[in-house]
Amino acid sequence: MINTRAALRLTAWFRRNLRTKLQSRDVYTVIHCQYKASLLAWLSLPIRLAQEHVYNLVPTESPYEAAAVGCPYISSFTFLSPQCPSGPRHDVRAMSVPEIKLERRAYSPRQTGTMILEVLLPIAATLLCYFIFHASQILYRNLTSPLRFVGGPKSPSFLLGNFKEMGDDPYLTEKWRAQFGGTFRFHNLFSMSELHTTDLKAINHIVSKPSIYQKAPSLLAATEIMLGRGILAVENENHRRQRRALNPAFGLPQVRLLTGIFIEKSVQLRDIWAAQAAQDGAARIEVTSWLRRMTLDVIGQAAFNYHFNALDTGSKPNELNDAFTALFHSPHATRYAGFRAAQGIAPILKLVPGPGKKLVHAARQTMLRIGQQIVNRSIAEIKASEGEKDLGKNRDLLSTLLKANLSASIPDSQRLDDAEVVGQIPAFFLAGHETTSLATSWALHALSTNPAAQRKLREELLTISTDNPTMDELNSLLYLETVVRETMRVHAPVVNTERMAVEDDIMPLAKPYVDPQGNSHDSLPIPKGQRIHIPIVAINTDKEIWGEDASEFRPERWEKVPDSVSAIPGVWANLLTFFAGPHNCIGFRFSLVEIKALLFTLIRAFEFEAVAKDDIVRVTVNFLQRPAVQAEGPCSGLPLIVKPYNAQL
Ligand code: HEM
Repeated sequence: MINTRAALRLTAWFRRNLRTKLQSRDVYTVIHCQYKASLLAWLSLPIRLAQEHVYNLVPTESPYEAAAVGCPYISSFTFLSPQCPSGPRHDVRAMSVPEIKLERRAYSPRQTGTMILEVLLPIAATLLCYFIFHASQILYRNLTSPLRFVGGPKSPSFLLGNFKEMGDDPYLTEKWRAQFGGTFRFHNLFSMSELHTTDLKAINHIVSKPSIYQKAPSLLAATEIMLGRGILAVENENHRRQRRALNPAFGLPQVRLLTGIFIEKSVQLRDIWAAQAAQDGAARIEVTSWLRRMTLDVIGQAAFNYHFNALDTGSKPNELNDAFTALFHSPHATRYAGFRAAQGIAPILKLVPGPGKKLVHAARQTMLRIGQQIVNRSIAEIKASEGEKDLGKNRDLLSTLLKANLSASIPDSQRLDDAEVVGQIPAFFLAGHETTSLATSWALHALSTNPAAQRKLREELLTISTDNPTMDELNSLLYLETVVRETMRVHAPVVNTERMAVEDDIMPLAKPYVDPQGNSHDSLPIPKGQRIHIPIVAINTDKEIWGEDASEFRPERWEKVPDSVSAIPGVWANLLTFFAGPHNCIGFRFSLVEIKALLFTLIRAFEFEAVAKDDIVRVTVNFLQRPAVQAEGPCSGLPLIVKPYNAQL
């Protein structure tokens, strides 16, 4: 009798070798056999062979032949064990590695056609069953949902729900609010029901119950696939641990140290625009793309001590920037994002070679490789500067994080592992640069269409006698503060966010909901799995909270804001712009000082005039709103006339 361990070793080897050989010889045969014998049976074939033949192996000097069970298209496996020892109780471990020979039968075209049908039909049938199963699950959920009485727009398609029309028209939710009120239901991809609400009691309830209202597991999984295990991809204890580790890096003392980088990069951008405007005394500049280059350089240097050199017009293409751009800014980014969202909801789509899959994979590999290099270098520098009181020359967020993470005072259970540290790099990149450049673009748009506010701001900025102010000097400028607040209120770059209830709940409402049948509800039953759409900009500009002129840009409103705004659960300035609760924006102080540094430098140096004052619209991609000239298409950005400001005139 052969002992069990030896049989298992042989079985494992047999499975490995058999698979490799089959793959290298004839993929079609393998696929067909997978269908014919079924995947499970096929994978268990070596085990069966081992069980049937190896256990009862009759010791012999001659080759041992085993028939391939269940696969008519492979005639035989020849299992050669020339040195198989004889004797009734031999040990398989003593055998040399056997050889498998595979003989394949020749097929007529008719047989081949039949085989292809035999492969394709069951695949199609399996997909259809999968689709019907999930569709009926979703339909059943929608039909039996305790929220089915809540009104809302019709879904134009089962597969896309209202997803596509919302992407096509960024103002659609506003129209729906006018039609159905602040609380309504719409349908997302695959007709998944999503509750939209601007009710502040409901929003407060959501952010104060993070154990119930979380990022959807499908979103977390999709984020992890794309960005790794950074803070954007985790919930619960993992999130609390990562957040604790990151918090010190984003505090005011750290941002104070980084202000020099914000100013240095703002000055570099100012000089580029000054050179462009010098020739004709003014230039038409598409400011959004330039601001993005500036914030990209800042996030690289300030967040992980990496030089993108995006403002150096002559510099070579940057590999990491190319990888990030491919992921988030390619012309097809929305399609890729839509497909990833669909994969999150229907995991079977991960087997399909969908749009951008290869590109995302390649970009992610580059991102992780360079991310690991950045982390290794930072750790080496921190170790080399051990004993120094401060961080030495490395003031970036990652170095601060690593220094704290390496400290002996941190219990092992609280430490971030390598993958988590590397995962913060794309998280900083994704969350921290375009948001800031869009906020500054919208500020320049607002100031170019409000010349009085622009003049007033410039007057205040020119009271500072240096081009290199500190963070405290920037924060002492009161009108600058109100301009930034007003921009972040009216033009919050992140338009909305989303949460999913992970258990049944009752959501209280400040204003009773009157359903289409006229019944009033002072709370809503939320079933487990319900998604909730939180419209950040809509709450920031709600007339019932801010007054009739809520959608106008008027910095002076901050001299006295209505009492009702105190009900907004924001982390900053009673605005939802940086969200609230445990997932509030960790980088909000960083971002505000960077925006102030940019406005300080640019408004002192230039006058900005609108090119297409009434034609600027918002284009929403991946929750972010970008400005665009309606007549010139969604990628036109924000063109402005930039004139050097001459104080003597
Ligand atoms: C105008 C600029 C910015 C805006 C409007 C903004 C907005 C937001 C919002 C709304 C969230 C919450 C998203 C959610 O949970 O659904 C968030 C989270 C986050 N933001 Fe920002 N952000 C900005 C700048 C930054 C910067 C500069 C950084 C980093 C340098 C940053 C890093 C993060 C991170 C890491 C999170 C995730 C926090 C967590 O889940 O605990 N953000 N941001």
